[in-house]
Amino acid sequence: MKKDLISIDDLGLEQILDYLDLAARVEALPNAEKAGLLPGKILATLFFEPSTRTRLSFESAMCRLGGRVIGFSESANSSTAKGESFSDTIRTVEQYADVIAVRHPKEGTARLAAEIAGIPILNAGDGANQHPTQTLLDLYTLRKFFGKVDGLKIALVGDLKYSRTIHSLCRALLAFDGVAMTLVSPESLRLPGYLTKAAAGTTATFRESESLADALRDSDVVYMTRIQKERFPDLVEYEKVKDCYRLEAKMLEGAPARLKVLHPLPRLNEISPDVDATQHAGYFEQARNGVIMRQALILDLLDKRNDI
Ligand code: CP
Repeated sequence: MKKDLISIDDLGLEQILDYLDLAARVEALPNAEKAGLLPGKILATLFFEPSTRTRLSFESAMCRLGGRVIGFSESANSSTAKGESFSDTIRTVEQYADVIAVRHPKEGTARLAAEIAGIPILNAGDGANQHPTQTLLDLYTLRKFFGKVDGLKIALVGDLKYSRTIHSLCRALLAFDGVAMTLVSPESLRLPGYLTKAAAGTTATFRESESLADALRDSDVVYMTRIQKERFPDLVEYEKVKDCYRLEAKMLEGAPARLKVLHPLPRLNEISPDVDATQHAGYFEQARNGVIMRQALILDLLDKRNDI
C-alpha cells in the first residue's frame, strides 16, 4: 500500500520519533552515498502558492539523493490557468513522477490529491490547515538543539490563528511529554479552540500571554511567525496587527543562554536582522534541516529507507 504524508494527525508519537531517527541517519550519511540512493526516481513539486524553502529544499533533497525534479512554482505556469481541474492535474502528473509534493491555498487539497493519486503525496502546506513536513523539521531542530522535545517550554508568537506551521506543530507537541506552550498573540489571532481543547488528557499545557518580553524570560524556545496577510478576509484587520511583535537583539540581553529563536520563515518585521548574529538565532539552521528531513521523508515514502 502506498504511503502519504498529509497531516501530523495521521502520525503517532512512535512514527514521529521514527522520522526524527531516520533524518539523523540521513544526516550522518556521506554525500557520495546519498547521491546513489534514488537514481531514476522523479519528484514532482506542484506549488499553487509561493514558496522558497519548502519547494527548494524538497528539490535539493531529491537532487542530493540522485533523483530528478519536475514541477511548477505557480499555477499560472500550468494548465490550471486554462481551467484544468486539480484532479486532472494530479492524474496527469502521476504518470510522470514517482512522488508528488503539493502546496495549495485550499485546506484539504493534499488529502484530495492522496485520494486521487496512486503514488505518494507529501503535503507541502494546505491553506491555513497543516504543514507537516515543516513540523517534522522543526521537531528535528528542537532535538538537535536540546537533545529532546519532552518538557520544553516553547513560546509560540504572532499569528496563531492562520499559521499552518503553528497548527501542525501544536498537534505534534501534544504527543510529547510535558511540553509547556505559551501562546503570545493579539486577541484577534488567538490559537483556534480545537487546538487548545486537544490538550485535554495530554501532559501538555497552554497559557496565553500578550507579552513577548515575558515569554523571553521563561522559555527554551521562542517560535516566531509572520502575520499571514494572504489569509485575512479583510486587509483592514491585517493592518491593525501586522507589526504587533518585533524581536530585537537588545531584547535578548539577559535571556537564558539556552534560549533559541526559531521561525519557519519567511520573516517580515517580526525578527530584526540584528538577532541573526546572536547565539539565540536558530532559524537558518532550522531551514537547513528542511533538506535532511525531506530526504528522510522521500526515502520512506519511496520505500527506500532500508537502503541506508
Ligand atoms: N517555511 C515555509 O513554508 O517557507 P516557504 O513558504 O518559503 O516554503
